[in-house]
Order: sequence, then C-alpha cells, then structure tokens
Amino acid sequence: MSNVATPTASANKFEKFKAEKDGLAVKAELEKFAQIGWEAMDEIDREHRLKWLGIFFRPVTPGKFMMRLRLPTGIVTSAQMRVLAEIVQRYGEDGSADITTRQNLQLRGIRIEDVPDIFQRMKSVGLTSVQSGMDNVRNITGSPVAGIDADELIDTRELAQAVQDAITNCGEGNPAFTNLPRKFNIAIAGCRDNSVHAEINDIAFVPAYQNGILGFNVLVGGFFSAKRCEAAIPLNAWVEQNQVVALSLAILTVYRDRGLRRNRQQSRLMWLIDDLGLEQFRAEVEKELGSPLVAAAPKDEIEWEKRDHIGIYAQKQPNLNYIGLHIPVGRLFAQDMFDLARIAEVYGDREIRLTVEQNVIIPHIPNSRLEIFLQEPILQRFSINPDPLKRALVSCTGAQFCNFALIETKNRALGIIQQLDAELSCPHPVRIHWTGCPNSCGQPQVADIGLLGTKARKDGKTIEAVDIYMGGKVGKDAKLGSCMMKNVPCEDLKPILRRLLIEHFDAQPKGL
Ligand code: HEM
Ligand code: SF4
Repeated sequence: MSNVATPTASANKFEKFKAEKDGLAVKAELEKFAQIGWEAMDEIDREHRLKWLGIFFRPVTPGKFMMRLRLPTGIVTSAQMRVLAEIVQRYGEDGSADITTRQNLQLRGIRIEDVPDIFQRMKSVGLTSVQSGMDNVRNITGSPVAGIDADELIDTRELAQAVQDAITNCGEGNPAFTNLPRKFNIAIAGCRDNSVHAEINDIAFVPAYQNGILGFNVLVGGFFSAKRCEAAIPLNAWVEQNQVVALSLAILTVYRDRGLRRNRQQSRLMWLIDDLGLEQFRAEVEKELGSPLVAAAPKDEIEWEKRDHIGIYAQKQPNLNYIGLHIPVGRLFAQDMFDLARIAEVYGDREIRLTVEQNVIIPHIPNSRLEIFLQEPILQRFSINPDPLKRALVSCTGAQFCNFALIETKNRALGIIQQLDAELSCPHPVRIHWTGCPNSCGQPQVADIGLLGTKARKDGKTIEAVDIYMGGKVGKDAKLGSCMMKNVPCEDLKPILRRLLIEHFDAQPKGL
C-alpha cells in the first residue's frame, strides 16, 4: 500500500512538496546542511522538511532553531536531562527549554551546524526528536504518575513507548507514517482522572472493564483548529491492552490512505470520520486490523476530577513519594535543567516526569529524604505550594519565539497572574490558559478561563488583545469551553479577569 498520496492538480502546497521529497529524506542531508549553514539551505528543506526531524526554523529568531523532542508519557532520565541542559547551555541567554502541553520539551537557540553532533549525543542517551512536527504523530501522552499512582488502573508507560517505537521505527524514522494528511495526537490514559485530556486527541484510550477484563474504550477525532473544535467521540470499540499498538496503527493507516488532503483546514481525522460516517470509518479500521472490533464497554473508569500533582504524594510503592514542582509557564533554563537532574539523582531514582500542565514531577523519594528535599533551594523557584492562580497557569510560546503569535503570552501571563494572586484570595486553583493566536496550542478551550490572542483597535491604534473563553471542563465529563468575550485589549484585561474570578470562581479581594 502506498504511503505517499499522488498529488492532484488541486493539491495544496504541502501535499506537493511532500510528494516531491519525503520529509524524512533530510535525515541523510544533515551533514551537508551543517556545512552550508541555514541561509544556503533550500527553503522548503529549512522551513518545513526539517520538522520531520523535530528541527523548527523560527522566523522570529532566524538561524536559531527550536528542537521538539519526543518523550512518551513525559518521562526523562536525569542523564537525558543533563544532555539537554548541555545543549541549551551552549546557547547562553538564547538557550532555554519549554515544557509543553503534550508532556514534551522544546529546546531553543539550536544552530544547524550543531545538529549532527546534538543528534549523536541524544542518541547516546536514548532520545529522539524524529517525526515530532508537521504531518506526523505527536508526542504520545499518558498519566504522568503511571506506575507510581496508588489508584491507577493501567500502567501505560510501556504502551506509550511501544506506540512511539512502532510509529518511528524505534526513533530511526519510519517512512510508513511520515506522510499523514495532517498532524495526529494519541493519548493513553491508565488513570481515573483523565490526566491526558483524552477528549482533545485524535485517538484516546481510556480505561474500561469488559467482562471483568481491564482494557480501553477508544475515542477518536478530537481536535482544535482556528475554525473548528471538536471533542473526541466514541469509536464504539474496546480493546485489550495488547491491542493498543495494532489498533493505533490500523487507524493511522486508514487516516493516511483515506484522509482528506485537498484542504489543510479540513484534513484532521474528524473530517474523514464526517466524510465516511462513523460506521463506515469503523468498518475501514476493522478491515485494516484484520479482525472485528469489540463494541465499547458500557462505561469507562474516568471517575475523578483532574489532579495537578503539585505537592507531595505517597506512591503505590511503600515509603516512596512523588513530588510535583510548579514550573512557572513551563520555562526552564540550563541551570534549572541541571538542578532537576541533580535532585532526581540525589533524592529519587534518576527520573523526571513532565505534566500536560507544564510542570515537573520527581518520583521515588523515600520518606526519610523528604525533609531534606524540602530544603533544596530549587524549591524557592519551583514551588510545591504555589499561589492558587499561578498554580494552574498554562501558556503557549507566544510572540517571543513564535511567528504566528498575535500577542506576547508567557511573560504577560505571569505578570498578570502574580498581581491577581496578590489581590485576591482564591479558595481553589482556577485554570487559566493563554494562547498566542487562533491555532490554540495553549488549549484555551479546556480552561476555566481561556485567553486567545488577537488584535483589536483602540483609540485608532492596533493593539494586542484576547478573546475570552469560559466553561472548559477537564477530568470526568470533560467538555470544551466557548468564547464569551471578544477583542478585550490586553492592557484592560486584569480588572476583567479579577471580576470574572470574583463572580464565577469564589475569589475574594484580600483584606476584606
Ligand atoms: C494550524 C494550526 C497550528 C499551527 C500552525 C501550530 C503551530 C505551532 C508552532 C509553530 C509551535 C511551536 C512554537 C514554538 O514554541 O516556537 C507549536 C507548538 C505546539 N502546538 Fe501548535 N499549531 C497549530 C495548532 C495546534 C493545536 C490545535 C494544538 C492542540 C490544541 C497545538 C498544540 C501544540 C503543542 C502542544 C505545542 C508544543 C509542542 C508539542 O508538545 O507538541 N497546536 N504549534
Ligand atoms: S498558539 Fe499560536 S502563538 Fe501559540 S505556539 Fe501556537 S502558533 Fe504559536
């Protein structure tokens, strides 16, 4: 079966350049690129095909690329974190890393001449960034406390790794899945609190019992775009744990071969499901799988409100704890990364985990080491008990590094939230998500309050503004929020947020 669609006369420019030369082909040309430098590279190789290797040309910082890794379930070893810290350190002030809402890391400041060496060093510690951008499957997410959560149902770590290995040929690159119609997200939840935001993935596996066997119900088609946002819908399928890889590949193959490619605004999986109808789509998947699908279990096991894992929690292993550290808007510098590697080695079991809330978990800390761990200076920066609004703040990259951005996000988000935390007592965290443009990478639709960057006119001038979303619910019975207010100038935002927090989220002005 072909994995490269034949471009028609009406094919869009992405389909044309993919058909001319597969994205992954640039892997063989890296040494050449390193020698000639970014300015002499073919434009499509530089700005598009390099993304098949996880290397992103950033027009805001030309010559300083961003690198997006793959970290299934968001797990990083201390040795891996050190290698990443060294990479980032090389670029001084330009070097930093962001924890993303797919439990992933994006590194900044990378130069093309260093990429071959960087890839060698990453390989030596088992890291890959392959197929992490463009029309590929993104980082596979799973519960950040898989294997250590006393209440988990399924430890999904190996499953997430196995799905990644199948799709990427164990990190070497797999031409069978390098030309999807569009990007593709997969999440595997083994927890009771839907820690992966199942509803916004193209495929989500959520734990469910069928005749006493613990497997997964399957949801499909969740996605956001500037024009359309859809929560994933049930495929009416239940699979045993050992069928997760095969079903993922079958769905991907149907999507690859049948997915709509003419218009990139209408090429995510849900559009194919709409086109075929769910029954027909399911039948195509069965055909690809080579066996009938079992109907979904009557209920899934997502029963809890979503946890944020910040603070100290007992693990299922006796005498051990995991500690969630709050990383403001997910931004890490080289020294932070070295420090995280060190504390994971000194107190834990050399493991660091990332959450979709852009925070860090250090697992496997013995009871006897807790007290001394809590005296570590890094906890001054990365608190285990942050103020309630800061605690649940999430932000996409925004104008500092992203050319699509209509507004600055991360620094502004932190500035406003610090003021609001100082002014208001909030009885519980309020999940405020910032995203710099309608592409919605910061997921404003899943937030209690979502802020989506736009431009507005005020006093005859164009200024940075946001559309305000509300009503997103995560965890059990997750649902997407909707836009409540449009074109609010960022300079007028703080009092509006303050009012929303008081009226809708039980916040009280301090000192009353
Ligand atoms: C046409 C639509 C989109 C475009 C052009 C786009 C573009 C980008 C770019 C340029 C970045 C990297 C920015 C940087 O840090 O330098 C990014 C990151 C990211 N975007 Fe988007 N995006 C789109 C839609 C979405 C949607 C709908 C989601 C999901 C809600 C999403 C989720 C993410 C995530 C999670 C990251 C961080 C990297 C990762 O973990 O995969 N994006 N996106
Ligand atoms: S939402 Fe827009 S500004 Fe933010 S990372 Fe995505 S593309 Fe860039």
